Amino acid sequence: MLLRRLPAAAVAIGRGIATATATGAGRQLLLRQLFEASSCTYTYLLADARSGDAVIIDPVLETVPRDLRLLRELGLTLRYAANTHCHADHVTGSGALRRALGCSSAISRASGASADILLGEGDELRFGAFALRVVPTPGHTPGCVTFVLDDASVAFTGDALLVRGCGRTDFQQGCARTLHRSVHERIFTLPESCRILPGHDYAGHTESTVGEERRHNPRLTLSADAFVALMERLELPRPRLMGAAPPPPPPAPPKTPKTKKKTRKNPKPPRFSAARCRCPGQSALRDPGRGLAPPPPRRGHAPSPPRPRPLPAEATPPAPPGGCCPLVAALGVAPPPPGLFTNKGAAPERG
Ligand SMILES: [Fe+2]
Repeated sequence: MLLRRLPAAAVAIGRGIATATATGAGRQLLLRQLFEASSCTYTYLLADARSGDAVIIDPVLETVPRDLRLLRELGLTLRYAANTHCHADHVTGSGALRRALGCSSAISRASGASADILLGEGDELRFGAFALRVVPTPGHTPGCVTFVLDDASVAFTGDALLVRGCGRTDFQQGCARTLHRSVHERIFTLPESCRILPGHDYAGHTESTVGEERRHNPRLTLSADAFVALMERLELPRPRLMGAAPPPPPPAPPKTPKTKKKTRKNPKPPRFSAARCRCPGQSALRDPGRGLAPPPPRRGHAPSPPRPRPLPAEATPPAPPGGCCPLVAALGVAPPPPGLFTNKGAAPERG
């Protein structure tokens, strides 16, 4: 199947594309795997070496300066900052990259997050002679997607499938049975030689292949029922940023000048509202920077390079069915008491 000829870096909307496609002989892919140590996150930079059009997958806010430097050194033009899912252990760098370079941020529509481009099944992110296809792989979160290179030689699986592991399913509306189905029906059906490039690694791995994971992944070789039982038994530590940004205080009550109200010395804490949940699963991908333009340079001053920085959160997306974040909803605003989250016998993943 031939891809539609569109301008470089255009978003093609085509459903159900899953076959390998060649877009011309002699094309050359530049692929870099980058690492953020505190959250053990992999960021991927892909580019058409001829045209210089580039895409970055799962950038991390803290490492945006490194990514900007690398893009500059390699002479690449970043078209898209794409995210495989909402992250609970780090803040995306897509907003900062967008502000610095004018690229478009992208995430799945099902994530409920805001971005320039909301992706769905079969959509494509084109960069030069290449394209990344969007394959929904929910389970870790409802909005998780895998980006598959157009010739099916590489799959960027985010947290759906890690090397010899998988993302947790105990928060952000995760569902172990859905994840098992996603991996078996959408990832394990790719060619055996397809490279698996995961969103995290905590054990020193860098990549795998579909065939390798089909044979050796200790979780995804289980039946669906056994996998669900295993995932329910995990006692994983709390994600690093879970609950880091509590909901804002409730609006002030209307002024009643006629009656004087008594002020309490120890006012009750505000009740938790799922609709305003700021758990990182929802807030981290509010895509800081969306819709903002860098200020014009002042006369007589050399324009200074844009410095990525966290921006005020945008409007909170509506809470999905069943509440926003089960963990935060259950716990309320206050952080959990020490010892509530233990790591007994836990798999090492945190994202
Ligand atoms: Fe994750």
